[in-house]
Amino acid sequence: MHLHKYEKWWLTFGTAILVVFLVVVGVTAVHGSTHPNQSKWTINYEEVDTIAPFDNPGVHKVEGKDWDYEVVLVASAFNYNPMEIEIPVGSKVKFIATTKDVIHGFQVAGTNINMMLEPGYVSQYVTTVDKVGEFTIVCNEYCGIGHAMMYSTLKVVE
Ligand code: CUA
Repeated sequence: MHLHKYEKWWLTFGTAILVVFLVVVGVTAVHGSTHPNQSKWTINYEEVDTIAPFDNPGVHKVEGKDWDYEVVLVASAFNYNPMEIEIPVGSKVKFIATTKDVIHGFQVAGTNINMMLEPGYVSQYVTTVDKVGEFTIVCNEYCGIGHAMMYSTLKVVE
């Protein structure tokens, strides 16, 4: 009879845990769907490799726009494509970036370039690179086991 009592207790306890879990998941789901993302450019993150401009990541010189270069960048666990970005000093640059899987960060240490890359959204940032040097690009959003090893380099050259 004692065993029966404990079983009942565990059943109640287990149910309570399950309810709490479902509430947490539900709240997260609702929060996620109403999460305000500043980017209005959406993308199917599972097809990123086939969708322009992300089918051709890298540094591209552009003409007739308000900026001189476009840097197209794809983040995934746990790297950036391209691994290295080289831009002449004084250039106005538009960074266009997205992720193929989870949330990643894109922060260029020592500059004001800092974007959050969210699955399903394209993040953009326009800036002028006016300091010569090598800047480390780091992921500042925890994205998994390889998070700390996720980096790239921005080279601003004469
Ligand atoms: Cu990618 Cu942290």
